[in-house]
Amino acid sequence: MNNSRRVRQIFSIMFMTLTFLHANALMSLAQEDTVIEGGRYLYKKFCATCHGGRGHGDGPKASSLKIPPANLTHLSKINGKKFPFWETYRIIDGREQITTHGPRDMPVWGVWFQIPDDEVSTETQWADQVRGRIWQLLAYLESIQE
Ligand code: HEC
Repeated sequence: MNNSRRVRQIFSIMFMTLTFLHANALMSLAQEDTVIEGGRYLYKKFCATCHGGRGHGDGPKASSLKIPPANLTHLSKINGKKFPFWETYRIIDGREQITTHGPRDMPVWGVWFQIPDDEVSTETQWADQVRGRIWQLLAYLESIQE
């Protein structure tokens, strides 16, 4: 094989690799966006009335509450700059109690983030859907940290 052919071959391999890596990066970015968008939708539907459209704790319901809703853009800030993933998970699925969120078996947002306590339901499609929703909501909350 002469030299210029080898050079061309090396260039074409480099080009293909770069194209592949670029496409891959774009694809995973698109997936993250979809998950975060799903979370944004859930947040608007179930959390924004108290915590506000952008998570600052200034929703339309806030002024009528005895305890003001938390600023959800500061969760990392008040936790040593690390997003408190599992703690927030437990708050959403109700294992960690926040009085204003209502009791675990009757949260203010209804059944959407609730896995019923019986053993069977951990295996159901419903339980999977609940975990998916919580996951998306967490991805969104993480994305709005200041
Ligand atoms: C009915 C009003 C209301 C709704 C709806 C609501 N929250 Fe809250 N939330 C509060 C209040 C009030 C607090 C502060 C309670 C406290 O400090 O004891 C709070 C606290 C929190 C905290 C704890 C923050 C911290 O600093 O530790 C998290 C996390 C949270 N809410 C997430 C959510 C999510 C996610 C949703 C939607 C699924 C939601 N909340 C819906 C009223 C609400």
